[in-house]
Amino acid sequence: MSATILLQPDTAGIASAADLLRRGKLVAFPTETVYGLGADAMQDRAVAAIYAAKNRPPSNPLILHVGSRQAAEALAVFSPEAVMLAEAFWPGPLTLVLPLRPTAGVSKLAVPSGRLVALRVPDQPVAAALITAAGRPLAAPSANPSGRVSPTAAAHVLSGLGGRIDAIVDGGPCAIGLESTIVEPGDPPRLLRPGGLPAREIEPLLGRPLAGPEDRGAPVAPGQLASHYAPSVDLRLDAGAPRAGESYLGFGPGAATLNLSEGGDIREAAQNLFGHLHALDAMGRPIAVAPIPDTGFGRAINDRLRRAAAPRG
Ligand code: TXA
Ligand code: MG
Repeated sequence: MSATILLQPDTAGIASAADLLRRGKLVAFPTETVYGLGADAMQDRAVAAIYAAKNRPPSNPLILHVGSRQAAEALAVFSPEAVMLAEAFWPGPLTLVLPLRPTAGVSKLAVPSGRLVALRVPDQPVAAALITAAGRPLAAPSANPSGRVSPTAAAHVLSGLGGRIDAIVDGGPCAIGLESTIVEPGDPPRLLRPGGLPAREIEPLLGRPLAGPEDRGAPVAPGQLASHYAPSVDLRLDAGAPRAGESYLGFGPGAATLNLSEGGDIREAAQNLFGHLHALDAMGRPIAVAPIPDTGFGRAINDRLRRAAAPRG
């Protein structure tokens, strides 16, 4: 593959990106959560290229990105509960796992089970314009090598996948900075991955708590395997202070190499998490991380930190 092209998020850049996607190429694009590595979900060759570029296990299914609930309904069967969640939170950082329609026409490679498909409608103008211009669902995992920290800026994508993908649309930093929350509606509804939409915002609508994925045995979202989102250096969590030789990722007032939020704002911390991990990783020293409260966005932050600190498989 030749060099990765950088595209501007304007009309011309989006038209070029859409043209590449229709020709089966790989284009990274911004969403409100993290940058996605997009491909035409209908073309086997394009979807296969995603797995190759990321070095992603072929059994790990992809999220399909569409422009509206109507477009999603052409791909999956919506229960009344799924309709309610989509109405409440789309566009936005919620992925729904729903029964795939046999008529959907999406590549089997994107949905290895052939049974359940993950769908979301991103809330980001560049992503929305690109989906419209491409005129088809876009399969898009986070635009990082498999197992590494997700990208929240075009520069992160370039450093992880430069030379392995065709283009990147640079839409600036991601507003939320954590991947979408993944929910499988049903009895009980399940939280498959905590993310950019806190569970406590979803549960009042459902009128019951979200069950965890664990009660089912095998992990259903392979992103939930222990070691994931990992920088190349070691991570030590719940550290009150750094030890000699460590970088310190702080939260709240006090000295730190980098601070997730000096004011202790958990939403700002989510926005900064992956960018700070990329930056500290580049410094090459082990990272000690301050304690982060485990509520709201904190739940997803701690989930990612635990996986980043887990022993490498
Ligand atoms: O915010 C996001 O969700 C970003 C942006 C680009 O949209 N995408 C993202 O994709 O995080 P990825 O592939 O890095 O993580 C998607 C997770 C994986 O853990 C995958 O196993 C799970 O979703 N997943 C996808 N399809 C699934 C399905 N049918 N059933 C269960 N889990 C699924
Ligand atoms: Mg990912």
